[in-house]
Amino acid sequence: MPIALALPDGAPPAIPVVVIEDAADAAPLARALLAGGIRVIEVTLRSTAALAAIKAIATDVPDMFVGAGTLLSPEDMAQAAAAGAQFLVSPGATQSLINCGIASQLPFLPGVATASEAMALREVGFRRMKFFPADAAGGIAGLKGLGGPLPDLAFCPTGGVGADNAAAYLALDNVFAVGGSWLAPAAAIRARDWRRIETLAAEAARLA
Ligand code: 3PG
Repeated sequence: MPIALALPDGAPPAIPVVVIEDAADAAPLARALLAGGIRVIEVTLRSTAALAAIKAIATDVPDMFVGAGTLLSPEDMAQAAAAGAQFLVSPGATQSLINCGIASQLPFLPGVATASEAMALREVGFRRMKFFPADAAGGIAGLKGLGGPLPDLAFCPTGGVGADNAAAYLALDNVFAVGGSWLAPAAAIRARDWRRIETLAAEAARLA
């Protein structure tokens, strides 16, 4: 059976999805988010620094629950786990990722955009999924629709979620968290604007 992603007790249900270009930025970024009250981070494997960034957060900022995102292959999953990721996220769900996710010792959050995809994952034991790209795949109305026939599934919408609509997503019964880049924008990370990220994190932490 796959391990479902559970946020740490009391953590606000908001997950920054980040691209880190310089691994030296990873720990200061994680500390800024923690200072704002955000306790979970998804580091995407979209930069050469991503694995080193995950390792730095896992080692230097133990209070942060660090996961790896944009996992596209079993190799990505293995490398993320070896770097110290505590949970795994994919924008979709290929058969090889599903097999690896079921066998993994780590929680795996696969991505879906349709009822059929969600049903296929449900059949093999998944109950929590990323809904991606949330806005384009139907947004709040789409998730509400899935809740009728599939009431035992819970989603983390990501993709087009921001300060303007995060609360509305979180108000849905079948949403356990929201994710997105708005909490730690790439430009703010590049500029090392930790104060801005702390402020954005504090605003998002209040969503709960
Ligand atoms: C992603 O995987 O890129 C996330 O869905 C972030 O999307 P966003 O930039 O729209 O928040």
